[in-house]
Amino acid sequence: MKQSISIAARTLACCFFSMLIFVSITHAEEQSVRPGINRYYVNPDWQQWVNTFERPGREVYDKRFAIIEATDVRPGMVVADIGAGTGLFTRLFAERVGPQGRVYAVDISRPFIDNILRSSRDQGFTNVEGVINSHKDVSLPPASIDLAFLVDTYHHFEYPASMLSSIRKSLRAGATLIIIDFRRDPQHSSSWVMGHVRAGKDAVIDEITKAGFRLIDDKTLLRTNYYLVFSKLDS
Ligand SMILES: C[S@@+](CC[C@H](N)C(=O)[O-])C[C@H]1O[C@@H](n2cnc3c(N)ncnc32)[C@H](O)[C@@H]1O
Repeated sequence: MKQSISIAARTLACCFFSMLIFVSITHAEEQSVRPGINRYYVNPDWQQWVNTFERPGREVYDKRFAIIEATDVRPGMVVADIGAGTGLFTRLFAERVGPQGRVYAVDISRPFIDNILRSSRDQGFTNVEGVINSHKDVSLPPASIDLAFLVDTYHHFEYPASMLSSIRKSLRAGATLIIIDFRRDPQHSSSWVMGHVRAGKDAVIDEITKAGFRLIDDKTLLRTNYYLVFSKLDS
């Protein structure tokens, strides 16, 4: 009896460590799913991207206040705007979380972060911190944020599994991950979306679920984008 329990325990331990090794190897060797998709952001013309991201007619710009309202973010919370771009949502969150809260503007592009910090300062925000991260790691402290917020960014991740794993570690207990991205539907989407965005909503839900999250809301607020809310599954 004792011997069979110890064999079972050893088998379990062996499976667990094989899984750990598999996950580490998978992430260590993750290949870019979209090489070159971020080349425009290496040396971006700031004003050109402000005109692109903050223009009437872009759905997430037109609905920006409703998008923020639907996050349920409250004063004092800590939010990471991941793939912050020109800081459209960073500044709105800065206003919402107030002086007791904090917003991390996270982007792989140094010029974007430098300009977000400058424009946030110009507008009097003292609660915005810039983070220049790598393509594979969000570079936030463990268990430090209440919300990881991604607009039009998930399809720009070249290494989605590595990014999701590091985002997961940065979430506090009870925190959420919000992904807003283009619907990709051959019947209705433009040819630009079909060519530019690698995965549709169902595939994205599948990838995020496999990374240790649970879908808790699929909001119907937007037309050309989806708005998904995930919580972290306990390990
Ligand atoms: C299309 S822009 C969206 C900007 C902003 N979220 C908005 O909706 O206005 C995508 C942004 O994601 C950034 N990005 C791409 N991969 C990233 C990564 N692994 N981590 C952080 N930011 C990333 C790009 O530099 C770019 O600023």
